[in-house]
Amino acid sequence: MFETFYDLINTPFSRDIATDQLYSSIMLEETLGRLEYAAQRQLFAVIIGDCGTGKSTIIRKFKDYLDSSQFMVMYLADSQLTPRHFYKGMLEQLGCEAEFYRGDAKRQLHREIEIMHAMHNLQPVVIVDEAHLLDKEMLEEVRFLLNLKMMPRAQ
Ligand SMILES: Nc1ncnc2c1ncn2[C@@H]1O[C@H](COP(=O)(O)OP(=O)(O)OP(=O)(O)O)[C@@H](O)[C@H]1O
Ligand SMILES: [Mg+2]
Repeated sequence: MFETFYDLINTPFSRDIATDQLYSSIMLEETLGRLEYAAQRQLFAVIIGDCGTGKSTIIRKFKDYLDSSQFMVMYLADSQLTPRHFYKGMLEQLGCEAEFYRGDAKRQLHREIEIMHAMHNLQPVVIVDEAHLLDKEMLEEVRFLLNLKMMPRAQ
């Protein structure tokens, strides 16, 4: 195949390139730094860019880049994401079975994040990929996460 012809070790443009083998550019480093700034201060950040320019890849890199003893990363990518599945998805990644109703699941997530912070001093980082496909209700829900100030800052 073309990999042999061009003497390539890996297939380029595949989705599973190890994050330490990605092409590193000033822009990539700058984006990682900005995302880390947002994570440390529990801010809202948006990555925008043309199709295939590496948005999802930089998120993958960011997950590995963050100090896992300081941050708990929750990643969701679902164009049909509803608030109930949003909370369910995050709780599952925290190893919990979500309550059925949205309100209960939301409160449950509050509790789990507080416990996570108190016991392990971990800050949550919620990543929603393909977020341009979310409907208004879902985008509001993401915004509520910050408005509620439910996520305490690490000291
Ligand atoms: N820094 C990089 N080094 C090497 N390859 C990269 C890098 N960034 C992206 N790629 C390659 O480009 C491909 C497309 O990138 P990616 O899927 O992250 O783009 P995207 O912006 O999320 O696209 P879409 O808009 O379709 O969601 C990846 O599968 C990966 O193989
Ligand atoms: Mg993408």
